Amino acid sequence: MKPLLFALPGNEAMAAALCRAGGFEAGRWELRSFPDGESHVRFLSEVGGREVVLVCSLDRPDDKVVRLYLAAWVARELGAARVGLVAPYLAYMRQDARFHPGEGVTAKHFARLLSSAVDWLVTVDPHLHRIASLDQVYSIPARVVPAAPELARWIGARVPRPVLVGPDEESAQWVAEVAAVIGCPWITLRKDRHGDREVTVSVPQMGPWRVCTPVLVDDIASTGRTLVAAVARIRDAGMGTPVCVVVHPLFAGDAYQALLGAGVEKIIGTNTVAHPSGVIDMAEAICSAAGELLAAGAA
Ligand code: R5P
Repeated sequence: MKPLLFALPGNEAMAAALCRAGGFEAGRWELRSFPDGESHVRFLSEVGGREVVLVCSLDRPDDKVVRLYLAAWVARELGAARVGLVAPYLAYMRQDARFHPGEGVTAKHFARLLSSAVDWLVTVDPHLHRIASLDQVYSIPARVVPAAPELARWIGARVPRPVLVGPDEESAQWVAEVAAVIGCPWITLRKDRHGDREVTVSVPQMGPWRVCTPVLVDDIASTGRTLVAAVARIRDAGMGTPVCVVVHPLFAGDAYQALLGAGVEKIIGTNTVAHPSGVIDMAEAICSAAGELLAAGAA
């Protein structure tokens, strides 16, 4: 029997794409809020003895986590064999250090919470920086789906003579990977973040790349300020109008408008987060990673 797939609100498109990609049966359930705001979860499909997979991208996570946690535990209470989570975007991974006295490494605490609710996890390019691998914080089997092949396919097919530009040193890992698949040059800029929305970026000598189309590649656009600052410096450096490609188009508040207004050719993301820019489809890659975990019995 195929695993039963249930989409948390806002994840219907990804769930449908996963079912189309094969390997899952769409489950039926009712999710609503009681008048007092508490969540009501009721499975209509029989989950007893079945592999259950919940699909919930964890952008804006604080509003989603209680319902996700309850859904996982209700499925288990009803006898689900195992409960897996497909979280195309995994939250809290940027909180991977104590940046100021009195803070905590919330990536670790969030991981503990999810690990206590589900049996396995599949996600796309979590922000692995000071935490080198999900195993360091998650105690359940966790599989990372790289977005690089899909980003490379999109850029390679549509952008003439690209030079990939990572807005900061952290981005080198994914920029280099995408550039290697395309076979094009890449560089990184230097970023200093002074606050949530205060970012400065400096650009090295761009001389050799002036004839290329700059493609800014980053894993996350949240406030968009990193990309806005990078676009400004690239334009100051006399390069062409940049294309922006992000794995997770979170775009909080006015971020998308601010980036559009900064003078970009195009903004493109993957569909790990429901957003108009999210046109690069990760469903097949996610589906095969989840299938491997299920087949390996880790799930
Ligand atoms: C940095 O660590 C990440 O790779 C992104 O560059 C960053 O999270 C983007 O954030 P924002 O859009 O808020 O500048």
